[in-house]
Amino acid sequence: QTYPPFDFIIFGATGDLTIRKLIPALFYRYLDKQIPAETRIIGAARSALNDNDFRERARAGLNQFVQESDRDQEKIEAFIQQVHYVSLDGANANSNWSDLQNLLNGDKGNKIRIFYFATAPRLYGDICDNLSDKGLLTETTRVVLEKPIGTSLETAQEINRRVGKHLPENHIFRIDHYLGKETVQNIIALRFANPVFERLWNSDSIDYIQITAAETVGVGSRGGYYDGAGALRDMVQNHLLQVLCMVAMDPPISLNADDLRNEKLKVLRSLKPMTDEDIRTNTVRGQYQEGNKNGEKIPSYLEDLKKDSSDTETFIAIKAQINTARWSGVPFYLRTGKRMAEKTSEIVIQFKSSTWSLFPTSPEPNRLHIRIQPDEGVSLSLQVKDPSKSHTSLRSTFIDIDFSPTFHIRYPDSYEGLLMDAVRGDPLLFIRCDEVEAAWRWIEPILNGWSKGLTPMAKYKSGTWGPNEATELLAKDGHLWHEDMP
Ligand code: BG6
Repeated sequence: QTYPPFDFIIFGATGDLTIRKLIPALFYRYLDKQIPAETRIIGAARSALNDNDFRERARAGLNQFVQESDRDQEKIEAFIQQVHYVSLDGANANSNWSDLQNLLNGDKGNKIRIFYFATAPRLYGDICDNLSDKGLLTETTRVVLEKPIGTSLETAQEINRRVGKHLPENHIFRIDHYLGKETVQNIIALRFANPVFERLWNSDSIDYIQITAAETVGVGSRGGYYDGAGALRDMVQNHLLQVLCMVAMDPPISLNADDLRNEKLKVLRSLKPMTDEDIRTNTVRGQYQEGNKNGEKIPSYLEDLKKDSSDTETFIAIKAQINTARWSGVPFYLRTGKRMAEKTSEIVIQFKSSTWSLFPTSPEPNRLHIRIQPDEGVSLSLQVKDPSKSHTSLRSTFIDIDFSPTFHIRYPDSYEGLLMDAVRGDPLLFIRCDEVEAAWRWIEPILNGWSKGLTPMAKYKSGTWGPNEATELLAKDGHLWHEDMP
């Protein structure tokens, strides 16, 4: 696909996301010849840097975060010439806006303009006011808002209102990078292009569903942000709920952005509100403690933060329910955490066992395992005749597909496709304002319940699958987390 030239302006350009994700993603698209020579990538931040200083940072980032085999220095240098910097506090009307104005207003015509907000979300409204006052919002302007959109329903509504004052909804791209993951998008194909699954995709056949996003890393240098957010706001309000929507939604009437987003919204609105009793019994929050990996000590959350105490969760497990005909009675177990045993994001669809068995032992129920990352793929457990035993003996095995070797392709980073979708103006994989607000409406009572002390903080050793309380949450229903399943 070819793209017209565009200007891509990043507020918060000196931050971790820009150097680690955004610039490498754009570089990959440069290698794919999707970044025309007249395109400019303009970093904006308060630090007093010039083009060369910023290019130096971008170069270092590319040499660290782009795969070694793709680090062609000549191409990096050519790409870097398209990178610029303006020293500007986007949230301050009195900052020096003229450099950016001169750069952008020098262009005649309808060059696409993307403003990417990678700053603290509370600044989004001010930045938009300033862009408008400085005459920088054109008809071809789109803004991309990084998550989290607010820290509560009220703050999310405020951001939506203030940004929406200046731009129509279809020019506002709320990014959730989980929707940029191939395997998350693949849920749509898997479900709606394979009647064999979709016909069973309901409470008649499905026993329960698990959605896990486990990380091995701690909070690293992001402690300042993370300690004010916690896992529920950082991962569940957005990524996990979006994955849940893809798994649970009804088929959209088309693949148009609004048709898909209408279906996701229905799921969010159908989530059973969490009562105090639900919060007490169906949520687990945990914080990582010191651990050990290959004989090396892994520091605790408090050591990472350099603080004496914190009431922020780095792990959460929730049993959620969706109040629809399709999902009545099917628990959705959501789980995410830092410093867990493995880096894995996955969905487990556990089918019901048959009520009747022809065999002396009941067959194991079928299970569909969708690996979002790493090792993107899907596997379906099956019962077959055990070839080493009598004709009535069964054995479990799998049909397993690893996507990358099967299709011989590189799995792109989730930001790559999403950034180019924003350039094309395609909001299909971005979150609409009502989705964000519906997600907060479900999350907020949990936060409030926790602040009333309904769910004590559990502790877990770094490098494990989380606190025992998470195992108990499933054990109460007679279930196991995926890693403990036979
Ligand atoms: C980000 C969170 O949105 O997602 C981080 O802010 C988290 O805390 C990251 O580490 C996880 O993304 P991925 O793609 O590595 O699963």
